[in-house]
Amino acid sequence: MKVAKTLNELRQMRAELKGSVGFVPTMGALHEGHASLIRKSAKENPETVVSIFVNPSQFGPNEDFGKYPKTLEEDLKKCEASGATLVFVPHRSDIYRSERSFITFNVSSEMTSILCGKNRPGHFEGVVQVVSILFNLVDPDFAYFGEKDFQQLSVIKKMTEELHFQIEIRSVSTMREESGLAMSSRNRYLSPEHHELAANIYKTMKEIKKMAQDALSEQKEISVESAENEARKQLEQAIPEAKIDYVEIRSDDLSKSNFLNENSRIFVALKIGSTRLIDNLFIGKENG
Ligand code: PAJ
Repeated sequence: MKVAKTLNELRQMRAELKGSVGFVPTMGALHEGHASLIRKSAKENPETVVSIFVNPSQFGPNEDFGKYPKTLEEDLKKCEASGATLVFVPHRSDIYRSERSFITFNVSSEMTSILCGKNRPGHFEGVVQVVSILFNLVDPDFAYFGEKDFQQLSVIKKMTEELHFQIEIRSVSTMREESGLAMSSRNRYLSPEHHELAANIYKTMKEIKKMAQDALSEQKEISVESAENEARKQLEQAIPEAKIDYVEIRSDDLSKSNFLNENSRIFVALKIGSTRLIDNLFIGKENG
């Protein structure tokens, strides 16, 4: 496995890659969720490039950019063990050519007015900015994104289509801890007690899934509003100290409907202490 720490090294090493290239962009502090993306890419391509870059432009002024965990040595070991062939660890100045960008991105309010877009102004613009730059630099055939960040995945798919990147976006299902808590670099901020409580996010989403599946099989109509209220109630009971940002049920294309349907997905974002956690689960009709 090679490690490129400058643009020149990346150019040189990229030119030496043979066959299809899969790309896994990350912000480091790698866990099994990231590893599953790398493994999938390595299975599907002879070459897998991982980038590790904590992108300042996607963090708000009061967010955790400054204290985002940095574990480069362990990250490199995980990349190698998972099958990466090249890791790109750029400096800020490799990605951003000037302190203030001359060209900025504008993501449609369709995305920025809902879910994580609402309370994180500028976040998806920052994600689109860095991922488009990384796509240009790495020039992959396939890029892998986790369903854990489902709205991000949707934004990236739109961006790829609209900017004509010749890259196929592949999604990877969410890796969870044994308790059901979605793996996240931010889980390490949780106290042991909060860590345990956080498992109730998945538990609640599964309860709602069960309710939705029963309704679907009995052809009973359940309003999205009542299912959202039920989920909120369960979360508030199970994690009294949580500050719920949103509990929403939307279709897989992120549109809102009045009743649960075959394409429904539940989305949750909440803060426990100062740690913001997000998760989502498909609660519609499973294939087959
Ligand atoms: P980061 O949070 O490091 O996540 C990198 C990739 O790993 C994303 O595609 C994310 O969805 C995926 N991922 C995280 N946790 C996962 C889990 N438990 N199971 C499966 N996949 C998981 O997302 C970002 O970085 C940044 O926004 C980035 C795209 C790199 C742009 O800066």
